[in-house]
Amino acid sequence: VPLKRQLTQTMKKQLPSTIYSVLKLLGKEAGRLSMRAYLIGGTVRDLLLNRRNEDMDIVVEGDGIDFALHMQEHYGGHVRTHETFRTATWKHPNGYKVDLTSARTEYYDFPAALPNVELSTIKEDLFRRDFTINAMAICLHEEAFGELLDHFNGLKDLQKQQLRVLYNLSFVEDPTRLLRAIRFESRFNFRLSKNTERLAHESVTHIHSVSKPRLASELIRLFNEEDPFVCVMRMDTFSLLNYLFQSPLDTNLSAKHIKTLAGWQVVLRDKSVAVHSSIWICYMALLTTMNKESFDELYDFCLTKEDIKTLDTLQSLTKQKIDLEYLLNLSLMDLHMTFAHINKEPLIAWFSIFTEKNTTKLFNYILKRETLRRTIDGEDLKRAGYNPSPLFKDMLLYSESLELTSPHISREELLKAIHTKYSVNENL
Ligand code: CTP
Repeated sequence: VPLKRQLTQTMKKQLPSTIYSVLKLLGKEAGRLSMRAYLIGGTVRDLLLNRRNEDMDIVVEGDGIDFALHMQEHYGGHVRTHETFRTATWKHPNGYKVDLTSARTEYYDFPAALPNVELSTIKEDLFRRDFTINAMAICLHEEAFGELLDHFNGLKDLQKQQLRVLYNLSFVEDPTRLLRAIRFESRFNFRLSKNTERLAHESVTHIHSVSKPRLASELIRLFNEEDPFVCVMRMDTFSLLNYLFQSPLDTNLSAKHIKTLAGWQVVLRDKSVAVHSSIWICYMALLTTMNKESFDELYDFCLTKEDIKTLDTLQSLTKQKIDLEYLLNLSLMDLHMTFAHINKEPLIAWFSIFTEKNTTKLFNYILKRETLRRTIDGEDLKRAGYNPSPLFKDMLLYSESLELTSPHISREELLKAIHTKYSVNENL
């Protein structure tokens, strides 16, 4: 008997009122179409854990596309359909988007032929999912709105802080779930149940069969969790790292670098400095200890131009063979003149390689750079009587460097300093 629990109050309290009212509306309309609609997956888990999550995944017993079109017809907004899985995204006129999926038995896009999607019940749909804590649903249809559907004891596992698969072949069918397991363990400070841990160990070799881009889309999420170091350590206990790369890795060495980078990320987070998600590929690069063979393999994982650019930058930084002593002796101003054009992600990854010396000074430069006011811009230079020229870039860089060392310097002082430096150049 599925455990029933009223979650209406929790939903009302935690969700923004616009989202809550969209859910109510969907429930009401599902009833009119004699369909049943459910909020499912990570959202339900996060509601029960009191964690913010505004991605609403909805599964309907019935046809997701028909449902979305019905909503559009009666309430406006916009529908996008994805035929293969009878899924649609309905954009409410207030701009909020909901994914409406048809309950189905086949969860996967198997590498070869796509399965015939068989519409099914919510219970069967939930059974195909990764972990019990992600396999709960909340009823949205009017007569049962707010009731928790928990066929597989997900709530109990949440309380026991454990991750448990629903069927023995779960990791074999979808080996990316190994990465998801590690990610959720670290995020929620949960553990795999004993049996799930055993199944995970047994299925590690299947990671080979997953395409690089699919792995990458889970790895991005893993390395953007709060504690990537713990995730890497855990990947190592499953010997997963060796399955990601063909060439051998020196995990003893890379662990130090990764720990350093993760540590600096904590500092950045505390100071509310945003780090771009491409940081994930920096962690991957550190895993290779910049060894050419494994580093080259990384390009197959790249999903965006930004990933490739980050790798290229990191590679060219390491190739320059800049002496660390020399770097540490540079003034703040010279550091900026040298590194102003380089994004912080590859830069902090590169600094993290020098674990034998105290590189705090280099990281502090990154922090200072984040607080730059950039008081002077091109317009200011024009107003001060300079003709636009490629020299503007240098002038602005010089101005930034001055601001780094004297954060309270005024606009007038900056212009004066620029004038002193560059009028000499012009005379030459
Ligand atoms: N899912 C699954 N197996 C996967 C990926 C996803 O069973 N390999 C299911 C899970 O039920 C999951 C839901 O699809 O809850 C949504 O997937 P996703 O958005 O990736 O996961 P979330 O649980 O929402 O994770 P996050 O909080 O990191 O977004």
